[in-house]
Amino acid sequence: MDHFAEPYRIKVVEPINLISREEREQKIREAYFNIFNLKSRDVFVDLLTDSGTGAMSDNQWAGMMLGDEAYAQCRNYENFVETLRDVFGFEFFIPVHQGRVAENLLFSTIVKKGDYIINNTHFDTTRANTLHKGGIPIDLICKESKDPHSDFPFKGNMDVEALEDFIREKGAEKIPACFLTITNNSTGGQPVSMANIKATKMVLDKFDIPLYFDCARFAENAFFIKTKEKGYAEKSIKEITREMFSYADGALMSAKKDGLVNMGGFIGINDAELEQKLTNLMILIEGFRTYGGLAGRDLEAIARGIYEALDERYLEFRTKQVKFLGDELMKRGVPIIEPTGGHAVFINAGEFLPHIPPGEFPGQALVVALYREGGIRSCEIGSIMFESEDPTSGEKKYAPYELVRLAVPRRVYTNAHLMHVALCIEKIAGYKDKLSGFDFEYETKYLRHFTMRLREIKPVTAKV
Ligand SMILES: Cc1ncc(COP(=O)(O)O)c(C=O)c1O
Repeated sequence: MDHFAEPYRIKVVEPINLISREEREQKIREAYFNIFNLKSRDVFVDLLTDSGTGAMSDNQWAGMMLGDEAYAQCRNYENFVETLRDVFGFEFFIPVHQGRVAENLLFSTIVKKGDYIINNTHFDTTRANTLHKGGIPIDLICKESKDPHSDFPFKGNMDVEALEDFIREKGAEKIPACFLTITNNSTGGQPVSMANIKATKMVLDKFDIPLYFDCARFAENAFFIKTKEKGYAEKSIKEITREMFSYADGALMSAKKDGLVNMGGFIGINDAELEQKLTNLMILIEGFRTYGGLAGRDLEAIARGIYEALDERYLEFRTKQVKFLGDELMKRGVPIIEPTGGHAVFINAGEFLPHIPPGEFPGQALVVALYREGGIRSCEIGSIMFESEDPTSGEKKYAPYELVRLAVPRRVYTNAHLMHVALCIEKIAGYKDKLSGFDFEYETKYLRHFTMRLREIKPVTAKV
């Protein structure tokens, strides 16, 4: 790969500390092997998520000082709406404090018990919010994504044929909305092509079903369209974004990703009647319509962050840095979902640890090993997160892949940190056959990964 360097320099630093192996062993046990229970100060390189963990720019921090904290109609709300209209083109924008609130508002308003919500792949919170309102989440991911080693550039795509078949089988009246998650987080941060967005919209138009984007990583998706899809190389990221969103009837965004902020989100929509209903519910649970659970300064940081995310030099560095980590792992024989996506490297733990069956969660075994080996926090995206029940037979289904996500926070770590991760995984590869799986000591019905307590099936000693 060409040499590449950050298109920014570091102005503020935050110390991090690698505690001793013995301490790490004690901490992971005290956390019941649930990395969400680990204290941040006990983590050295934190790749748990790219959500809300990015570094803001000097321009955003300067904007924070211009926070207008009036309860109603603060000037930052005006900047917020103006920016979002300019970038995404919808008529109405409803601020919320994070993405899942947008999901809650929309699904509370449009989903009836037994309705289907279709997605290329639901993220955990979209899935949980659909189920919580009595809906049935359906994933219709493209066939190319089923081969983890295929280098098809748009493995986040919807299976458009399957979409049409599904609508014909179940009936459009049972499907209040269809989503495209861009990029598609749960299948490896893989992008969706413009052609697929258009084709999805064409099918939905036949049945009068609205298309929504779950667009937390819209800028990374637009960058992949620019660099990998014919006809877009000469277009700006903003032009590509406008075209993408011209096919959508609405969008939900967790701004904690490509909004380059630590907290925030919004719903964008054109339908005035729906906007009214959503706003009324939002006022009930989040706050007045011009702040939506956020401070004025947060709205300002989002407005500035959205423009910064359109910067091609930033997006080029970002995607190259993620690819750098993926390449270092592949060089060491670690199986990952190829090609690397926009925000994370996804290790195929099912393939890396074939001796651990899906029901004993190989992804979690690797997550725990990474913490023990190098103080690295990562996230299981496998059957702990996505085990489901067949809606008709009630039979348990494991996740399609047992993955470990190494999510790279935006503008936070250098490549030296990522090399530490690659070298730790290389060491783990030397003793991986000794790793053991887990079972549950405590779990909840929804989003169990956040609060679970686990037991190691065959306890491993501190020095494996
Ligand atoms: C694709 C996608 N949708 C929705 C969400 C939920 O957003 P939030 O964590 O801000 O509630 C996330 C968070 O990671 C996400 O990746």
